[in-house]
Amino acid sequence: MISSAQPEPVTLEIIRTGTRLSSVPLVPEIRLHQADEPMGLWQRTELATGRTGLDPPFWAFAWAGGQALARYLLDHPEAVRGRRAIDIASGSGLVAIAAAKAGATAVTAYDIDPLAAAAIAANAGINSVAVRAVCADVLNEESPPPPGTDLVLVADAFYERDLANRVMRFLERGRAHGAAVLVGDFGRAYLPRKRLAPLAAYDVPGLIALEGTDIKRTTVWALPERQRAVPDDSPPQIPGTEDG
Ligand SMILES: C[S@@+](CC[C@H](N)C(=O)[O-])C[C@H]1O[C@@H](n2cnc3c(N)ncnc32)[C@H](O)[C@@H]1O
Repeated sequence: MISSAQPEPVTLEIIRTGTRLSSVPLVPEIRLHQADEPMGLWQRTELATGRTGLDPPFWAFAWAGGQALARYLLDHPEAVRGRRAIDIASGSGLVAIAAAKAGATAVTAYDIDPLAAAAIAANAGINSVAVRAVCADVLNEESPPPPGTDLVLVADAFYERDLANRVMRFLERGRAHGAAVLVGDFGRAYLPRKRLAPLAAYDVPGLIALEGTDIKRTTVWALPERQRAVPDDSPPQIPGTEDG
């Protein structure tokens, strides 16, 4: 399903009454609808919608990876300026909003949770930037990111094995089509560290309700291009003897 339709009134009501507008600890120039703790809001959401088995309200928090990546984009606008960016597993839209603030030409934020899509739109409005919020599972498609995408962003999405594998395959497809890829993650269980190159690290504060510890050292990673395989019949490279 792909949807950027108007959210239901109950969705807007949950966002408005279940959160408060506050600055993001590591990125104080961005304000978001944030909750103090997840359980209460999760219960309220199930009650208000009459549905059970909903995902936790990830969208109501600025996760460590998102804070670090947003900080990086604002401090390194050259990484994003003039680019068409997408933010997958966007949650609150924090990374997408930072990309738009840092000068991206266009930003689309994807999340599978309709509440997240509504929160992204509301949060983008509060921060006076244009972000297209789309409720879709882009990871399921075996296709590359939308044509014209030259920057793929993802933060805090390596917390489940299946999701992590699908995210990584999507990032690889984006990289193979020429897009730069940036990841924010403190080292969750399924982060494919060996495939990533660290760019910067931040002590992200304000995480006690989510992580049980106030500060998490969190890294921003790039996905380098895959090394091309050396054909079997090519001569071995001896260090220091390359041309030039
Ligand atoms: C831990 S939150 C991270 C949110 C945000 N990137 C941040 O760092 O603050 C993970 C998000 O991934 C979303 N998600 C999970 N599976 C997804 C999928 N297949 N496609 C898009 N988003 C997905 C969840 O709904 C949730 O909002």
